[in-house]
Amino acid sequence: MDYTRNGLIFGGAGKLGTALSRAFSDGWAMRTVESREADVTDKAALRALLTQARPKVVFNAKVISGVDACEQAPGLAFLINTRFPSHLAELSEELGFTLVHFSTDAIFPDCAPGDAHTESSVPVPLNAYTLSKYGADCLIPAITPRAYVLRLSVQFGERPAARQFVERMLEQALEGAPVLRAASDVICSPSYSLDVAGRIRQMLEHGEPSGLYHLANAGQASLFELVSTAIGLLGLSTRVEALPSASFPTLGRRSNVTPIASGKIDPLRPWQEALAEFCREFKAARDAQP
Ligand SMILES: NC(=O)c1ccc[n+]([C@@H]2O[C@H](COP(=O)([O-])OP(=O)(O)OC[C@H]3O[C@@H](n4cnc5c(N)ncnc54)[C@H](OP(=O)(O)O)[C@@H]3O)[C@@H](O)[C@H]2O)c1
Repeated sequence: MDYTRNGLIFGGAGKLGTALSRAFSDGWAMRTVESREADVTDKAALRALLTQARPKVVFNAKVISGVDACEQAPGLAFLINTRFPSHLAELSEELGFTLVHFSTDAIFPDCAPGDAHTESSVPVPLNAYTLSKYGADCLIPAITPRAYVLRLSVQFGERPAARQFVERMLEQALEGAPVLRAASDVICSPSYSLDVAGRIRQMLEHGEPSGLYHLANAGQASLFELVSTAIGLLGLSTRVEALPSASFPTLGRRSNVTPIASGKIDPLRPWQEALAEFCREFKAARDAQP
């Protein structure tokens, strides 16, 4: 095996971590760091773990996400979302591995209808979650030139541990919920976590320069449109009700219209195509359950 294809994932049980394990399952030696293996806020413990594991690429998919969760525990949000990635960046300089870190479209202000935020757009973080994420976006490139910072938008995809928005909606529909509710004024770039992970593999293997990238399936949609399309693809009759985002209040302020596009790399396939593939997989996995 090519010795450079040796990766280590933090946050491997999460949605993106799961997709990374799957996308790199052949030809790469990938290891996931379990939460109990290391206190990620302790730089000396991290150094010991990484010195022993000697990865060539470290993927950081660990995050405290959610506007409410971060408002309620801002200290933890900054420790995991800002300080831990900055420690990884310092250790990447010290130990020589490549760092792949993830950020979010949520750091941006609302953009004009039809527009999308590119790598040169100016973030305006409004809450503890987005401040803590943007902190790492700023620190990492200031510490090391050998890091990729990949900004993502709303992901759908396999996630064994817990369900996020899209998967939760689909499960409720498959369990017979007569009506689902989704915001029609929250606009994102819906993306399939497996497409995202596959492109990251290509970028690494093709030697794409490190730096900041926006990575998403092509196109944009409201959460209402995303859920309605998925329900249609699954052939379900569940009614989806379009509501304003004000119907889903959060503790912190947030932006609503934050689709992303890249000025540096081609977009992934259109989100509708990716969603159709995900829905087929989602239904097959559910049908296979005992
Ligand atoms: N999912 C999306 O829609 C989306 C959108 C934009 C950007 N992103 C970005 O993509 C990256 C990965 O997101 P994801 O959706 O894959 O995350 P996720 O599934 O919510 O969580 C990823 C991992 O974070 C760790 N984690 C979660 N809550 C924690 C807590 N309270 N304390 C300590 N660790 C905790 C867990 O790590 P362990 O496995 O080690 O327990 C978990 O497996 C993040 O940087 C996120 O900002 C995601």
